[in-house]
Amino acid sequence: MTHRSYQFTHALCRAPATSVTDGLRAADQGDPDPAVFAAEHDAYVSALRDAGCTVAVLPADEAFPDSVFIEDPALVLNGVAIVLRPGAPTRLGEADALRPALALHMADVVDLVTDGYVDGGDILCTDDRVLLGLSARTNATGAEDLRPLVEAHGYTLEVLQTPPEILHFKTESSLLDAETVLATPALAASGAFRDLKIIETVPGEEAAANAIRVNDHVIVSEGHPRAADRLADAGYSVKVLNTSQAALVDGGLSCMSLRYSLG
Ligand code: GLY
Repeated sequence: MTHRSYQFTHALCRAPATSVTDGLRAADQGDPDPAVFAAEHDAYVSALRDAGCTVAVLPADEAFPDSVFIEDPALVLNGVAIVLRPGAPTRLGEADALRPALALHMADVVDLVTDGYVDGGDILCTDDRVLLGLSARTNATGAEDLRPLVEAHGYTLEVLQTPPEILHFKTESSLLDAETVLATPALAASGAFRDLKIIETVPGEEAAANAIRVNDHVIVSEGHPRAADRLADAGYSVKVLNTSQAALVDGGLSCMSLRYSLG
């Protein structure tokens, strides 16, 4: 059986801009170092290739400091890109800037037409459901306008509430397989994962919840040994990557790629 939620043939990434030093963040812990970020991003791309994806890396876009987080302006379902409407004012233009590349690399491109907002970081897909967490970046108008586009691909849309202290729904959750998610206790307690098994992160390792399942690999960010052990104990093939620079601007593993299948 094919699992469209985690079996991917392709991924699209964007190299980090040197302007990533101006990236959005909730708390300032210092600017990322562009050279270190580039090295960590190279390792990330290699990990996606090791997991079996053909990866295209778009050139850095200096106009948009957060553009390395390519998952936020688009959603890909069945190889078709839906151009979203990011909820941060400085990121709104990323959608238009990304559209030509989406047209080149995806099977088709459609626009989310809305006065509202949807960030890709708020979307977690299972094989048959799109879980969309309302947040400071995603609102109910955007969610309802997204619904028919999602249903056209055979998914149901579930609109959930991300706890207010969490940036994106997927900041604290990720899909591990067709029935299982990794989540922080805070997000698990919100009741979002009805009908799914939950593996919870331990206190102090909340950032580990932003993992990615890509084919046979679960990629987890470095510095979360207990999460890595829990996943390994549960039978997953765990790969650990350093995402120290993305973390300084509230980014993680999921937001640095659009993962999809063609054919
Ligand atoms: N810096 C990532 C974001 O806040 O969108």
